[in-house]
Amino acid sequence: MDRRMHLVGKVALVTGGASGMGCGFAEALLKAAAKVCIADINVETGVATESDLRQQYGHENVMFSKCNITSATEFEAVFKRTKEAFGGIDIVVNNAGIGGETDENWEQTVDVNMKGTLRGLRLAMYYLSVEHGGRGGCIVNVASMTGLNPNPLSPVYGCTKAGIIHATRCYVVSEAAKKSNIRLNVLCPAFVDTPMFRRLAAGDATQTIGGDQTAVTAFIERIGVLSTEEVSVALIDILTDETRNGLILRCAKKTGNVYSTLTVQDV
Ligand SMILES: NC(=O)c1ccc[n+]([C@@H]2O[C@H](COP(=O)([O-])OP(=O)(O)OC[C@H]3O[C@@H](n4cnc5c(N)ncnc54)[C@H](O)[C@@H]3O)[C@@H](O)[C@H]2O)c1
Repeated sequence: MDRRMHLVGKVALVTGGASGMGCGFAEALLKAAAKVCIADINVETGVATESDLRQQYGHENVMFSKCNITSATEFEAVFKRTKEAFGGIDIVVNNAGIGGETDENWEQTVDVNMKGTLRGLRLAMYYLSVEHGGRGGCIVNVASMTGLNPNPLSPVYGCTKAGIIHATRCYVVSEAAKKSNIRLNVLCPAFVDTPMFRRLAAGDATQTIGGDQTAVTAFIERIGVLSTEEVSVALIDILTDETRNGLILRCAKKTGNVYSTLTVQDV
């Protein structure tokens, strides 16, 4: 049996789903006959993506909801709207994130990537939990390879991604996750061909420290660049294999997909 059958009729909420990897995730979920709410701060792109996906996968299966994940009110409203529209939530992909290392934007990087993702994680735990009317499910947090390996070009970004990995670790071993049968995993991609990546590759100096584009280009060449479709295959693998829980999935063009456990056993 095609493992994607597990996703038929499942309801997914994808943050940052208007473009880039989030949009790829939404499309992969819809192809597997899930229903998807794309939540994004960018209304123009969100509405366009919603319209495009509705045409391809059915009006009733996709909705866009405007949401800045740094706003507690807006973020909770998206969970409520998704539940009302689709009858529940089974999958939450905390994908929205930004890069930024300058004096002007580094704190915004922390607010969006760290606080926003933690907020999404807390809301997901609440809405998926059986005691609050949920039915269990799966949470996938999008971190990055830079959350595992030090990268001198983007310490703030890397730190937020390391934080996402650790927050996921803590919830994986929680009683709340066990009680409601909630699986949690982290996706750590290397470079993926998205608008964010293209800005970096084109020399956007706000995303790195020092603006050393030669170093950025050399790094990209060494690591290689995945397509959004390739990363979506990794997401669908996590979602459709019920044994996958508490794992980091590293994906990179040159090394492929590698799973490792989130917890360290020998301490
Ligand atoms: N592209 C890469 O090479 C790469 C590699 C590893 C990890 N990531 C991570 O993958 C995720 C997706 O990145 P991407 O490359 O697709 O970026 P992207 O910029 O192409 O897409 C990100 C989406 O998130 C939305 N967004 C930004 N801030 C938001 C906010 N405050 N609230 C709600 N939505 C918001 C944007 O509008 C956009 O639609 C991010 O968390 C990023 O850090 C990207």
